Amino acid sequence: MSRRHRYEEPEPVPIDPVTGQPVAIRYEGVYKSFGEHHVLRGLDLLIPAGKITVIIGRSGTGKSVTLKHVMGLLRPDKGRIFLGDEELTSFTDKKLRTVRNRFGVVFQNAALFDSMTVYDNIAFPLYEHTRMKRKEIDTKVATLLAQVGLSGSEKKVPSELSGGMRKRVGLARALVRDPEFILYDEPTTGLDPILAAAMDQLIVETQDSRPGITSVVISHDMHAVLHIADKVAFLVDGVVYDEGPPEYFRDHTDPLIHQFVTGSLEGPMKV
Ligand SMILES: Nc1ncnc2c1ncn2[C@@H]1O[C@H](COP(=O)(O)OP(=O)(O)O)[C@@H](O)[C@H]1O
Ligand SMILES: [Mg+2]
Repeated sequence: MSRRHRYEEPEPVPIDPVTGQPVAIRYEGVYKSFGEHHVLRGLDLLIPAGKITVIIGRSGTGKSVTLKHVMGLLRPDKGRIFLGDEELTSFTDKKLRTVRNRFGVVFQNAALFDSMTVYDNIAFPLYEHTRMKRKEIDTKVATLLAQVGLSGSEKKVPSELSGGMRKRVGLARALVRDPEFILYDEPTTGLDPILAAAMDQLIVETQDSRPGITSVVISHDMHAVLHIADKVAFLVDGVVYDEGPPEYFRDHTDPLIHQFVTGSLEGPMKV
């Protein structure tokens, strides 16, 4: 058998052991530092397709940085990242920019344009990147607003909306181009417990109404972890400290995880 003629099988997409689903996103030994600040320190993480993965961990532990890598906004110093069977880390900058179209992102502060109406905030990516007709856009915006519980809010501006409503508009905008992946960066931070629970429910509804969509939620909200996650990854100092289904975390005996889950001041993590 001559090496030269060997057929190279594409690497098979692995199965996520926690959910039994094919892996949509794979981090393999990812390192990222900013100067002397070592944020990701060999991150290995599997994100299952068609499920909700919740990444938890203390502030500053590298959760947002982890998401920015898969959106192609940051490149790792070392390690590889795969989207399905494609190695993202081998992409040119140009190809990496096209990858961003496959993601919808709900930012922590909703990141709406204050001078634009709700309609324009949601429709903006369609004007910019598609040739959809005004009528089609109208229908799409109305459908999305209905899905996030804000029917008829097209003409409002962000300053007229509560924090919870702004996050819902942010979600509608994230969905407007029918992304394959939806990333939520602390979607409930700053909301009262009832609005936070409503947002969690909306995340589950969004997942259920779009079969195949892959959701990643960054949170330090244990309600989210226990009620919406199919898989939980607990990040400490830029690596996955432990992962499993939500029930696994509820009764975890590890002192560090127990402290986080119960929100206790007593334990190995110092304030
Ligand atoms: N572009 C950047 N330049 C320098 N430092 C950064 C940058 N992005 C993030 N960091 C630092 O990396 C650490 C992890 O940030 P981040 O992932 O946002 O944390 P979190 O887990 O709270 O989302 C923080 O200390 C932050 O200051
Ligand atoms: Mg963050």
